[in-house]
Amino acid sequence: MELTAIVRAAFEAAFPGGDFSAVRVVGATDSKFGDFQCNDALKCAKLYHLNPRQAAEKVAAKLDRTCFEKVDIAGPGFLNLTVSASWITERLLRLSAADHVGIPQKGRGKKIVIDYSSPNAAKQMHIGHIRSTVIGNAIDRIFRALGYEVVADNHLGDWGTQFGILIKGYRELLTEAERAHLTVALLEKCYVLSAAKAKEEDGVWKEACRAELVKLQQGDEGNLALWRKFIEISIAEFDRMYAKLGVKFDTYRGESYYNGTMGEVVAELQQAGLAEESEGALVVNLEQEKLGVAIVRKSDGGYNYTTSDLACVKNRIEEYDPERIIYVTDARQQLHFRQWFSIARKMGCKTQLIHVPFGLMSYQGKAISTREGNLIKLDELLAEAVKRSLAIVESRQDPAADKSGNLRLAEQIGYGAVKYSDLSHDPATDIDFSWDKALALEGNSGPYLQYAYARVCSLMEKAGRVDGMGLTGTFEIVTAQERRLALQLLEFPGAVVRAAEAYKPSVLAEYLFQTAQLYSSFYQNSPILKSDEPLRNARLNLCALFGEVLRTGLELLGIETPRHI
Ligand code: ARG
Repeated sequence: MELTAIVRAAFEAAFPGGDFSAVRVVGATDSKFGDFQCNDALKCAKLYHLNPRQAAEKVAAKLDRTCFEKVDIAGPGFLNLTVSASWITERLLRLSAADHVGIPQKGRGKKIVIDYSSPNAAKQMHIGHIRSTVIGNAIDRIFRALGYEVVADNHLGDWGTQFGILIKGYRELLTEAERAHLTVALLEKCYVLSAAKAKEEDGVWKEACRAELVKLQQGDEGNLALWRKFIEISIAEFDRMYAKLGVKFDTYRGESYYNGTMGEVVAELQQAGLAEESEGALVVNLEQEKLGVAIVRKSDGGYNYTTSDLACVKNRIEEYDPERIIYVTDARQQLHFRQWFSIARKMGCKTQLIHVPFGLMSYQGKAISTREGNLIKLDELLAEAVKRSLAIVESRQDPAADKSGNLRLAEQIGYGAVKYSDLSHDPATDIDFSWDKALALEGNSGPYLQYAYARVCSLMEKAGRVDGMGLTGTFEIVTAQERRLALQLLEFPGAVVRAAEAYKPSVLAEYLFQTAQLYSSFYQNSPILKSDEPLRNARLNLCALFGEVLRTGLELLGIETPRHI
C-alpha cells in the first residue's frame, strides 16, 4: 500500500492531471528482478502516445527513491523495484509494534449489516449449510477487524407455507411422547410425512394444512404458540452448531419479523408506479435490465421471498442506516438478489447491496442429495471431524503423555479443518469436501497451518520467550529466504484489505498458506537458535512476527490456534 502510493505519486508528477488511481505495485513475479514491480506504464504509454519504455523512464525520473535500493526498467516498460534492507527492517519494527498487527481501521465510524447462515427453521442443518455460515462468519470477522461496526443478522426462514404443513403434521402424525420431547429431527420427520400426505389425490390433507396456515397468519393463539415452539427448538439446535463453529450473531430476525410490513412495501411499489397486475399477481417488470419479471404478490394474495427481502432491507436501513449490506447465499439465488436489488434501487435505496454467492458443495466427488444418501447432517460432519482428528492427535502422541486435553484439541483441529477446506477456495467456485484433503497435515489445509503455528510457539518457548511472541531488539535481513518472508509479512494488512474488498476470505487463506510456506523455507535454510547474537534475536523476531500474523489471520477465518499440538 505504501509503495503503491509512492509509485502513484511518481505517475502523477510525470503526467500531471491524469487519473492513476488504478496504478498498483505488486510482488515481483521473479525475485531475480527485484522485490516488487509495477506494470502500469504500459497502459499509460498508450494513453499518452509514448513508447512504453519512455513512459516508464518518465515515471522512474519522478520516483521518490528514499526506500529503494534499485529501480530498473525492464522489457517493454516494467518498473522493477528493489527496496532497501533498512526500509524492510524499519517496516518490520513498525508492524510488530502496531495495534491490530497493522490492519488499517478503515471502517471506523461505519456500519454494515451481514446476513448469513440464515437456515430454514424446523430442518436440521446439513453439510450444505456450512458454506454460508463459515464464509459469512469469516467476512464478518474480517470487517470487524477493519474497524467496521458489524450487525451480523441470521435471517432465518421462519415463515411460510411449510408451517401449515408442520402444524397439521404435529397435531396428527406425532405421538404424544414425541410431542412432549420435540426435537428438530422430529419436526423434520413430521414435515416429510405431512408433505407426502398433502400430495394425496383427494386434496383433503392439503386443504387442512392450508387452513392451519391461514389460522396462523390470522394470529390464532394456538397455532402461533406452536409456531413459536418450533422456532425456539430450531434456534436452540442451530445455536448448538454455532457454538461449535465459534459463530455469534447480533440478531436473529427471521422472515417473520417483516411479516407486518410487506403490505406497505407493496403499496409503495404501486404508488411509485413500479408494480403492475399480471394474471392476478402483482409483478415488477425488469425486462429492460434483462432480469425478467419479479412477483411481489401472488395471485392468492400471499407475499413471497422478494417481498420479504424488500421489507427487510427497508427495515435495516431505517434502523441501522448502514453503508452496505452483505448477503451470503448460494449462487442459485443470484437472480433473486439481482431482481430485488434492482427494485430497491428504483425505490430510492442508496445503500450498497452486495450479494456474495457461493458455489455448490459436493462430498467426496458426489453431488449432495437425498437420493445419493449423503445428505450429511452438519452435526454428524462435525462429530466425524473430531473423531478423525482425535485419531491423528493420538497417533502423534507419546503413549505416556497426558491425554486430558486431547478432545478439546481434536475439536480445534477438526472444526478448523472443515472450515479451512471451504475458506481456502474462492467462494464462487463449486467445491468438493474430502476428508483426506481437509485433514492433511501437509499441503494447503487447516491442520497444516495450525501445526505451523504450534511449531513457532514451541520455538519461542525453547528460546525462552515464554509469554507469547514478544519482540526485543531489532530485525536483520541476511538471506534471500529471510527477505522474502519479511516482505510477505509486511503484506499482511494489505491481504486483509484485499480479502474484504473482494468479499473473499480465500484471499486471506491463500496469503496465510504462502506465508507458511515461505516461513518453512526460511526455517529450513537459516539456523535460528544456533545463530550468534544479534542475528539469533533478529531471526526470533521474524519468527515471532510470523506467529502473530498467522494467529491473527487464522482468527479472522474463525480457526483456533492451539499453542501445543
Ligand atoms: N433462508 C434462505 C435459504 O435457506 C437464505 C436467506 C438469505 N437471506 C436473505 N435475506 N434472503 O436459502
